[in-house]
Amino acid sequence: MNDNWKKKFSTAACKTRPSPVRELLKVIKQPGMISFAGGMPAPEVFPIEQFAEGAEKLVSDGATMLQYGTTEGYDPLRNFLNQWTAPRLGRELSLDEILITTGSQQVLDLFAWVMIDPGDVVIVEDPSYMAALTTFYNHGAQFASVPVDGEGMDVSKLPALIESLLKEGKKPKFIYTIVNFQNPAGSTMTLERRRELAEIADRYDLAIFEDDPYGYVRFDGEHLPSIFSFDKAGNTVYAGSFSKILSPGVRLGWVSGSKSIIRQMAIFKQSTDLCSSSISQVLTYEYCRKGYLDAHLPNIIKNYRMKRDAMEESFRKHLAPQGITWVKPEGGFFYWLNTGGIDSDELARKALEKKVAILPGASFCLNPEAGIHAARVNYTYSQPDVIEEGVTRLAQAIQEMKLAAR
Ligand SMILES: Cc1ncc(COP(=O)(O)O)c(C=O)c1O
Repeated sequence: MNDNWKKKFSTAACKTRPSPVRELLKVIKQPGMISFAGGMPAPEVFPIEQFAEGAEKLVSDGATMLQYGTTEGYDPLRNFLNQWTAPRLGRELSLDEILITTGSQQVLDLFAWVMIDPGDVVIVEDPSYMAALTTFYNHGAQFASVPVDGEGMDVSKLPALIESLLKEGKKPKFIYTIVNFQNPAGSTMTLERRRELAEIADRYDLAIFEDDPYGYVRFDGEHLPSIFSFDKAGNTVYAGSFSKILSPGVRLGWVSGSKSIIRQMAIFKQSTDLCSSSISQVLTYEYCRKGYLDAHLPNIIKNYRMKRDAMEESFRKHLAPQGITWVKPEGGFFYWLNTGGIDSDELARKALEKKVAILPGASFCLNPEAGIHAARVNYTYSQPDVIEEGVTRLAQAIQEMKLAAR
């Protein structure tokens, strides 16, 4: 049969690209494969029994759970989140300042609908979350980037970048930042930089998208206030997610911000999915209402800290002697390796032959040259003995590449 579809596709469909992570997820299902590639929570930390308790609600309030909900989300869950996030956001928000979404991935898309016209410039961190870059790209964004170091986005480079864009007549639309345990770089923006970023955005009248799915998964050090809390002008939206602190399967996230941006995102959500799942929202609210979320966070943190430490030890043993360097993350899901002189694309291919999957850096980087010597490695999904075995295989792959290059 002739495939007639392709010639009918939209310009956007012809331009978009599949996610390398989603594509790789198909390969890593092979038996014996060790995956450091995805960003998946550990299955053993899912609070299955406590979450299942909420199912009683199906009997007492099945009419709500099985019905369409409002586009803005289930009010009790919105109220809960407004209270729960108040310490981080600096104040308790009102109901019309929060929208429940289908994962925080949907916030990226709704925000792009509201903010991006084709050709608009968005300032992003380099490296950055691949699926955010793709979403903005699908909406026609052009990118300007600021490098990330061990202290998050190098905010000192922002004013010169903005000035040069303004000189070219390109006023950037917004700045996208992952402040805590950045995906993929693992680093966290310092307090000083957060303040400075809010101040720069205010000075140039730029919006900020603060993406924070990992913020509550902190192993070491103190929680830091959000950029949202420093922004007195109301130009920041804060996106949160249940994916890393409860379950990605519930597909629930949220966005907090000023009424007008929240309202406009809700209008786009009306035509995107009408509303997020009522079943998920009620079950998640029941779980949160009973205090289970707060009680569960220490379990997640303990589990992931133990795995982060296991990976740190394996790296020191096997990768440090190979000249590989890294910054130890204080939380979140990822290590970002500097592979030195080794091409990370080739390394990822070689590692796959040894049945260990990592993600090469290039697809996270605006400047692919920068990503060619970097790789993202996840530690939350595998057990410590599997981590040790996977890192051993990675070290063997590196050694073989070095030998072959001689
Ligand atoms: C930085 C960042 N933002 C957003 C998301 C989307 O998460 P979800 O849609 O599961 O809430 C992810 C997922 O890994 C992420 O790493």
